[in-house]
Amino acid sequence: MRTPVVAGNWKMNPPTAAEAVELARAVAASAPAGDQVTTVVCPPTVWLSAVREALGADGVAVGAQTMHFEEKGAFTGETSPLMLAGLASFVIIGHSERRQYDGETDERVGRKVASAVAHRLRPIAAVGERAEERAAGATASVIDRQVRAALANLDGLGGTGLVIAYEPVWAIGTGDAATAADAQEVCGQIRAILRELDPEAADEVPIQYGGSVTAENAAELFAQPDIDGALVGGASLKPEQFETILRAAAGA
Ligand code: PGA
Repeated sequence: MRTPVVAGNWKMNPPTAAEAVELARAVAASAPAGDQVTTVVCPPTVWLSAVREALGADGVAVGAQTMHFEEKGAFTGETSPLMLAGLASFVIIGHSERRQYDGETDERVGRKVASAVAHRLRPIAAVGERAEERAAGATASVIDRQVRAALANLDGLGGTGLVIAYEPVWAIGTGDAATAADAQEVCGQIRAILRELDPEAADEVPIQYGGSVTAENAAELFAQPDIDGALVGGASLKPEQFETILRAAAGA
């Protein structure tokens, strides 16, 4: 019904274009053939061109890690959706590191998701609760608020290419992944919100889990009914690990 999407979020790595190209080539060489999984690599903006060129018409898609919602203007340091045309087919929006360090708000996430869709980029809208929010029993309300805000400016979900990534902040880069059951619980909640917003198209939307996904825990996560792939940080920089995660998604 929906193809899982496994995206490698390289964050601010690697430091040189040559290493970025090498990593992209290693992913392309090991990515499962066929269309059981959509493989995406998300390099830093400055390496998008080199990686896009290195991958050629291969099966691996390229994603940006963020973008501005405007097409052009006085926004120093930013990248517009027009600039991503031809370089990326996906874009991560609202990653928790951008929410934490770069002032990304729910409102801006909503504008960026709509702008990505309007420019035919598939948004990977990232949501997730912080440790203190989970401890306070606020996970469901945080997720509800973030998901609705991210989708607030879309007319419907059909044909948008939308992907949602559930990434509990406390699980990112900590080695402390959510249990498959806890991840499924939140991804199921997200699916219910999508069904409420657009009953026809809700089941088309892949929902990823992210946060310390590894070669070891991927298969159990992907066996959950509402987990359709992963947003992978650390393990996406290690091609053998990333390959195992891709194969787990292809086989799920
Ligand atoms: P991690 O990062 O896999 O290193 O936990 C995930 C992410 O931030 O997208």
